[in-house]
Amino acid sequence: MSVFGEMQLRGKSALVTGGGSGINLAIAKRFAEHGAKVALVGRTKEKLDAAAGEIRAAGGVAAGYPADVREYEVLAAAIKSAREEHGPLDIVVCGAAGNFPAPALGMSANAFKSVVDIDLLGTFNTCRAAFEHLRRPGASIVSISAMQAFTPTPLQAHVCAAKAGVDMLTKCLAIEWGSEGVRVNSIAPGAVDETEGMKRLAPTPEIRSAFMKSVPLKRFATKEEIADLALFLCSDAAQFITGSIMVCDGGQSLAGIGMSMMAALKPRA
Ligand code: HXC
Repeated sequence: MSVFGEMQLRGKSALVTGGGSGINLAIAKRFAEHGAKVALVGRTKEKLDAAAGEIRAAGGVAAGYPADVREYEVLAAAIKSAREEHGPLDIVVCGAAGNFPAPALGMSANAFKSVVDIDLLGTFNTCRAAFEHLRRPGASIVSISAMQAFTPTPLQAHVCAAKAGVDMLTKCLAIEWGSEGVRVNSIAPGAVDETEGMKRLAPTPEIRSAFMKSVPLKRFATKEEIADLALFLCSDAAQFITGSIMVCDGGQSLAGIGMSMMAALKPRA
C-alpha cells in the first residue's frame, strides 16, 4: 500500500492506456491496491495479459483490452468492453506514449506524426471515446504529460510538441467537462527510473549521471511516486483540482541556468 493508508478507490472502475508496462502499470497497480477494478489498454495482448495477471495475483481485479490508441473505432470498442465488464468508468488515465531521441532533421514526417499520433491524438481519442462511459460527477481523467511539454529539448521536438498539446487539451477539456463534474488533469513527470523512456533517453551510466546532476533532488523518480500522484488526483482529496498540470520532476524544470551557475561557481557553503 502506498503512503495513503486507507483504501482510496474502493469499488471504482479505472481504465489505463499504455497500462501494460512502465509508469502506467505502476498506476494501475496502485489503483488496484486501493480497491479499483482496472482495465488495461495497450497494443500487445501478451503484455496486457501478463500485467493483468500480476495485478490479479496480488489480489486485485484487472483485465486487458488490446487496442492502439491511434485507431478510434478499435479503441472505442475496447473501452465499451471494459465498461460492460467493470461497470461505468470513474477514472481514465491516458498514458500511452511513444518516444525516441532524434534530431528534427533525422525524423521523417511519418516519424514525427507517429509520436504526435500516439501521444496527442491518442489522448484525445481516449478522452473522447471514454466520455460517454464516464459522464457523471466525481469522474476523473489524468493524462501523462512530460517535462518536455514546457522545456524545449533537443532530439525531442516530436515529444515536446505532442506533450504541450496534451497539456493544452487537458485545460480545454477541464473547462468543457467541468459542468458535468468530470475533472481533467495532467501529470508531468521528469526522469522516471526503470522506464522504457529513460532507457531510450539515458542509455549509458554516463548519461544517467549527467542527467541526475541536473535534478535538484539528485535522483530520478520512482514509478510508484508518479502512481501516488495519480492516486491523489483521482481521489476525493483532489475534488476541486481540475485543469492542472502537476509537475513531478525533483525540481529539474526549475533548475535551468541556475544549476549550471552553481556548478560553475562552486560556492563554499
Ligand atoms: C528516427 C525513427 C526512429 C528513430 C522510429 N522512427 N524510430 N526515426 N529515429 N530512432 C521512425 C520510423 O522510421 C518510421 O518512419 C516512424 O518513426 C514510425 O515508426 P514505426 O516503427 O513504423 O512506428 P510504430 O510501430 O507505430 O512505433 C512508434 C514509435 C516506437 C514511437 C516509433 O518507438 C514505439 O512504438 N514506441 C512505444 C514505446 C515507447 O516509445 N515508450 C517510451 C515512451 S516514453 P518512416 O518514415 O520510416 O515510416 C515517453 C516519455 C517521454 O513517452 C518523456 C521521457 C522523459
